[in-house]
Parts: sequence; C-alpha cells; structure tokens
Amino acid sequence: MQKIRISDLGNFVGQEVTLQGWLFNKRSSGKIKFIILRDGSGYLQCVYFKGNLTEEVFDKADKIGQESSIEVTGKVKAEPRAPGGFELDATGLTVISDAHDYPITPKDHGIEFLLDNRHLWLRSSKQVAIMKIRHRIVKAIRDFFDERGFTLMDPPILTPSACEGTSTLFETPYFDLGNAYLTQSGQLYAEAGAMALGKVYTFGPTFRAEKSKTRRHLTEFWMVEPEVAFNDLNDNMDLAEEFLEYIVQTILTERADELKVLERDITKLQNVKRPFPRVHYDEAVEILKKNGIDFKWGDDITGADETIVSAQYDRPIMVHHYPAEIKAFYMKRDPNAPKYALAVDVLAPEGYGEIIGGSQREDNLDFLLERIKEHNLPQSAFEWYLDLRRFGSVPHSGFGLGLERTVSWICGLDHLREAIPFPRMIYRNTPWGGWGGGGGGVGGGP
Ligand code: 4AD
Ligand code: MG
Repeated sequence: MQKIRISDLGNFVGQEVTLQGWLFNKRSSGKIKFIILRDGSGYLQCVYFKGNLTEEVFDKADKIGQESSIEVTGKVKAEPRAPGGFELDATGLTVISDAHDYPITPKDHGIEFLLDNRHLWLRSSKQVAIMKIRHRIVKAIRDFFDERGFTLMDPPILTPSACEGTSTLFETPYFDLGNAYLTQSGQLYAEAGAMALGKVYTFGPTFRAEKSKTRRHLTEFWMVEPEVAFNDLNDNMDLAEEFLEYIVQTILTERADELKVLERDITKLQNVKRPFPRVHYDEAVEILKKNGIDFKWGDDITGADETIVSAQYDRPIMVHHYPAEIKAFYMKRDPNAPKYALAVDVLAPEGYGEIIGGSQREDNLDFLLERIKEHNLPQSAFEWYLDLRRFGSVPHSGFGLGLERTVSWICGLDHLREAIPFPRMIYRNTPWGGWGGGGGGVGGGP
C-alpha cells in the first residue's frame, strides 16, 4: 500500500492509501465515526462506517485520545465540502502510540499555560500556519537576494565588540582572551563582505540583552542584512521597498490558506506595493505635534509614536534623516546637514512599527574615527573595520530586517513570541530544560 502525506491526496483519488500522523479530533454519530488526522502537511477527515470494518477497528476508534499517533488506510475520495477537498473512506486503523490527557484541548487556555507547553502548542493549527508562513518568508528572503546577484555570507556569532551600542550585549567568557559577546548584528562583517563581493547579505540569529518587556522584543531573533557597495541612502530605500513588496506579495499568493487559518485581514497586506512614502524625520515630528503629542526634536520615534505616524498612510513608510545623535556610530551624516544621519527605518502599518533599520555607512576614515571616539568605543577593536576605509573605501549602504517582526506583522499576531518556534524573552527561560536550576540544561529540552 502506498504511504502518502495529506498534501499529496490530490494525486490519489480513487486509490487505497496509507497515511501516518496524529489524531487531531474525533466525533461519532451512531454507525459512523470521524477521525481527523493531522500529519503536518494538512488535515484529513477519515470516515469509518461500521459496516465496512471489523468490530475491533470500529471500537478502537472510540478509545484513542487526542494526539495519539496513528496509521490509517482507506480509499481517497474527492469531497468539496471537506477542508482540503478530500476525505478518506477508511478501513484500517493502527495505533502507534496511544495518548491520553493531552494538556492542550480545543478550549481556551491562557498564554502562560500555552508558553509553558510551547513544545506541544506548536502542533495547534494556528501555530502550524505561522511556522509555514515563517518558512516561506525565509525562502522569499533568500530568493529575493539570490535572484539579484547577492552572495550569502555568514557572519560570526561570537564577537569581540559591539555593533549596536554596548548596553544590550550578552557576555560570555572566551578562554584566555577575555570576554566575547553574542552578536547584535552581522552588519560590520557584511560591510567587509560588500567590499569583497559587491552585494552580500547575512542571515542568522542575533542577540540583544533587551530589558524591554514589550511585544516587539525578543532577546534572540533572526535578522537578514543586505549590504551593497556604491549604494547611497536612496538606493538603500529603493532596495528596502522592493524587498518588502516581494515578501508580502509572495506570502499572499503562496500562503493564502495559512493566512485564512489565521483569519488575517489581507486587504491591508494587498496595499504593500511600491512606492512607499518617504517621510523625513522633521515631517514625522510635525505629524506627531499635529496629533497633540508633546514631542521634542532629537528624540527617537518609538512605540506608540511610530503607530501615530504610520497611521497617516495605508502602507509601510520609510522614515529617514533621523538626528545623528540618537543613531549608531557607523551611520554617515548628511554632508549638507550634519545634524542628520543618512538613516532609514521602515515602519509597518497597523501598529507593527519598525521592521527595518538601515543607513548609508560612514565611508570617510577621519569621520569614522571621530564617531568611534564620541561613542567611547575602543579603537583597537575596530582597526579591521577602519581598514575598510583605508583600502578602497566606497559609499555603501545596507539595512537589517527583523524576521520575527515581519512574521508577526504578516500573520497579524499580537506578540513576537508566536513568530519563532522557541521564543527567548527577558522574563522567561522555561520550559526548555531551563538553565540555572533543575531541568536538563540548555541542551536538554526541545
Ligand atoms: O535597527 P537595528 O538595531 O539595526 C541593526 O542592527 C543594523 N546593524 C542593521 C543594518 O543596518 N544592517 O535592528 C534591525 C531590525 C529592527 O528593525 C527590528 O526589526 C529587528 O532588527 N530587531 C528586533 N527584533 C526582535 N527583538 C529585538 N529585540 C529586536 N531588535 C531589533
Ligand atoms: Mg533600529
């Protein structure tokens, strides 16, 4: 008998097949029992008619609990009313491992309970839909850059110095060499890559010891960072908007079913088309003032203020020319108005806020040295980075897109914690083994 997955049912209508998976749900009405099988690729209603089966198989269907692993056999039937469009006229049922008292039931559970059971919660239909969208976003990101002549370059995770300011570094002892830090961003290495390969992108986990307990912050998140030699701020914004449009439009066509499971209002996503409004920082300040916010020029635009500025538009916006004072050391200042950095943040609509941060980089050796001093960074740790300005320096730009913020926005989630399989947050390090007490250590849990 051919063993298939639920996603392949369309090729087997009228044929006898075997499928393996877990019992998602069941119900019975007299002489018929229904078992909903899930196998990670979809859901399938298996219909057991008393007349077609031995007494033993029929009874067995009653006894197994939610999330028991099972194997079913039967004939595939097209059934337009069934979710997925198929049904199984079932004749066989083998229990691989019987489960009882599965903790997550169709009733509502609180978020803390679900997070404690994240390793099981991942099996729920919404979580499965989110993971499939996340995976497709990752593929869209790679496809976008690969199709445009970029080279993927993996940066190190253990680093000797800060990229995004020293306040959010995770520190770890590093043999006889003192301390190393978990990377906050692959950017500085991407810049070296851009000077070697012209157009590169890094894509991997990054770490911030963020003290913020907001729905937008994780301590471990994934970031993709393109870096392009000879691109200025405008080129950088062109790239960012083309990139975001590509991701969103790809998900709308490729993951329509999953967006439906999440009950996402897709009209808001359909608007994500170029060109995105380009809003100067000063203009954003005006918008805030007009909306009654007591905003001081020079402050960063964050959280609720981002939402107010975004709400004036129907698609993502690109806020550029932030005050240099509040931005990172590596950002180039506008030569015509040095109080501004050639920076850009892309703000997602619907209150999702900053999903991209980027800039044109300081390419002048002397100015960069000044910045390093102003920011109290140890010059010796940046000599290699300064070399990029000593040997064939060119204007160059790049940005970082936070994967979880993008997943959260596209899926319409309330919090980043559902956008990553096993979220790491300041106030939670369980249940995954736990560290610092009990449990199996970091490597012990799922
Ligand atoms: O704005 P950020 O800090 O920029 C950088 O790290 C630059 N080095 C990127 C570059 O130019 N190559 O971070 C970039 C993005 C943010 O816009 C946000 O989407 C995400 O990374 N991000 C976080 N996501 C989840 N949790 C956190 N704590 C995050 N901090 C930043
Ligand atoms: Mg930022």
